[in-house]
Amino acid sequence: MKEVRGQVGSEAADEVRGQARSHQDGSYNPQQIAQYYDSNTARFLSLGGSGDVAAIHRAIWAPGVTTQAQAFGFLNQLVANALQPALPEETGAARVLDLGCGVGGTATLVAQTLDVHVTGVTLSPAQVQLAQQRAEALGLASRVNFALGSFSAMPELPASHGAYAIESFVHADDAAGFFTMAAKHLLPGARLVLCDDFLNPRHTAEAKACVARFRRGWHLNTLLSEEDTCALAQSAGFRLVEVQDLSAHLRGFHPLLLWAVSTLTRVPLPWAYWHNLAGGTALQRCVKKGWTRYLALIWERV
Ligand SMILES: C[S@@+](CC[C@H](N)C(=O)[O-])C[C@H]1O[C@@H](n2cnc3c(N)ncnc32)[C@H](O)[C@@H]1O
Repeated sequence: MKEVRGQVGSEAADEVRGQARSHQDGSYNPQQIAQYYDSNTARFLSLGGSGDVAAIHRAIWAPGVTTQAQAFGFLNQLVANALQPALPEETGAARVLDLGCGVGGTATLVAQTLDVHVTGVTLSPAQVQLAQQRAEALGLASRVNFALGSFSAMPELPASHGAYAIESFVHADDAAGFFTMAAKHLLPGARLVLCDDFLNPRHTAEAKACVARFRRGWHLNTLLSEEDTCALAQSAGFRLVEVQDLSAHLRGFHPLLLWAVSTLTRVPLPWAYWHNLAGGTALQRCVKKGWTRYLALIWERV
């Protein structure tokens, strides 16, 4: 489903900034997030099912998708398609930022699909190494590079023609600051794409424990509604172009397996993958109940 939603004013954005802070019940620092990804990345790649796509994100089983590779590649293609209209025609001139790049699966696909230079940033040293190896193996090292660091503390860079963040915005410790940073690094007309989980503002009291479990397990700092996120983006200088709700195309565990893993992972064991399983099963329940939604949001820098 594709749609363009209305935008709210900047007074609303001020209110949202306050709410964004109060949504941060469990706040994870960059070291904790880096540790989470350093410990989990090998398992995400070997058990996650994305294979050569090297995705550390959700598989999207949209109509027409029939293989695991297509399902895990869906968001990569969505990002490439969304960025494309804003790129300059001049050969070799386009620059794109991958804000929370994982092991470079999206950056390399984007560089293979579009005539762009991609700079990816991740908090995880293990991921930077794997991402660089991937770019070299695919012969893309001259156009794709990766840096260890936070998108909250980006170095001075020439302004870019596009940026995207797949499942990394939820880790941002300052949601408003994320959009201010993106606006600073993007040229007018550039596209910004976010694919992530968003809170349904109409979620019930029953949802609270489940949402909290998801946030804890996956080390989230920011779980906002679509409306609150759009208010922050607008206030930082972005015009909403498109919203795609992909929730219906997510697949979860068989209900019996979901119940078993969900129950087992209530035992608080200190393993990083255990936390991921606990958060992931809570998230599956949140999506099923409609308490959270998985969206792709596309903006243009004004
Ligand atoms: C769920 S993974 C997604 C990785 C990748 N986008 C993909 O789709 O395969 C989240 C990523 O966000 C990165 N991340 C989280 N917070 C970050 C921050 N403040 N700065 C840079 N990267 C961050 C993590 O290091 C990790 O690479």
